[in-house]
Amino acid sequence: MKGVILAGGTGTRLAPLTKLVNKHLLPAGKYPMIHYAVAKLAQAGIDDILLVLGKQSAGLFIDYLGSGKAWGVRLTYRIQEEAGGIAQGLSLAEGFVDPGEKMVVLLGDNLFEDDLQPYVEQFRKQQQGALVMLKEADDLNRYGVPVFLQDNIIFIEEKPSTPKSRYCVTGIYMYDASVFQVIRHIRPSQRGELEITDVNNAYAMEGRLGYGLLSGWWTDAGTFGSLREAGEKLGGPQGEER
Ligand code: DAU
Repeated sequence: MKGVILAGGTGTRLAPLTKLVNKHLLPAGKYPMIHYAVAKLAQAGIDDILLVLGKQSAGLFIDYLGSGKAWGVRLTYRIQEEAGGIAQGLSLAEGFVDPGEKMVVLLGDNLFEDDLQPYVEQFRKQQQGALVMLKEADDLNRYGVPVFLQDNIIFIEEKPSTPKSRYCVTGIYMYDASVFQVIRHIRPSQRGELEITDVNNAYAMEGRLGYGLLSGWWTDAGTFGSLREAGEKLGGPQGEER
């Protein structure tokens, strides 16, 4: 199974810091944010990883991560010219992921405690389709929120004003190789982006979207408040190991 880390985008919610440096290089605890996504995939046994970067600060990612040797992984880099959305960034992984192969996709600004290995194993056993990781959250209007029928996700609403469950869809996704076909069929949203939620909904509508629940803390470090919160969690006594 391959790994894909999406670290493009503009990081406007963290401006003016992100005028100088890409969001994923900002400090979170002891390390730059991008450190954790690589470490989490390595911990789960995913050792062949594509990093999708914007043009901003691309050289600095290489300065920090290099070949990936320090994490025991092999890194490949691709540039997303414009921030065309998470799904557009993911489309750049076609060719890196072999036909018929599965992948774990992480949004580079998602920081979390859980070891992903059990969920990766769960997805290995899932014959095909996709799997999203969920977490209970308060500020649900910032996220994708699943709608359940019995125990199945039938739809995900992006940033709903009236959330229909108490969970958010985190930026931890797993896909079979048909995801590239799915991305070719979606259209840009009102904000002009190819949305990952539209991709996930294509799977949900076919009854092919599984899910797992994170048990440890999770945060999307895309705002000053959540970045500070992540820094506090990562700076704790166990922070050095993550
Ligand atoms: O964090 C979880 C949430 O992430 C989900 O609940 C939402 O369903 C999902 O749409 C996403 O929402 P955000 O509004 O937080 O996404 P954002 O635009 O902030 O981008 C998140 C990450 O994706 C960030 O690490 C940068 C990367 N990205 C984003 C865009 C728009 C790219 O690599 N390329 C892009 O073009």
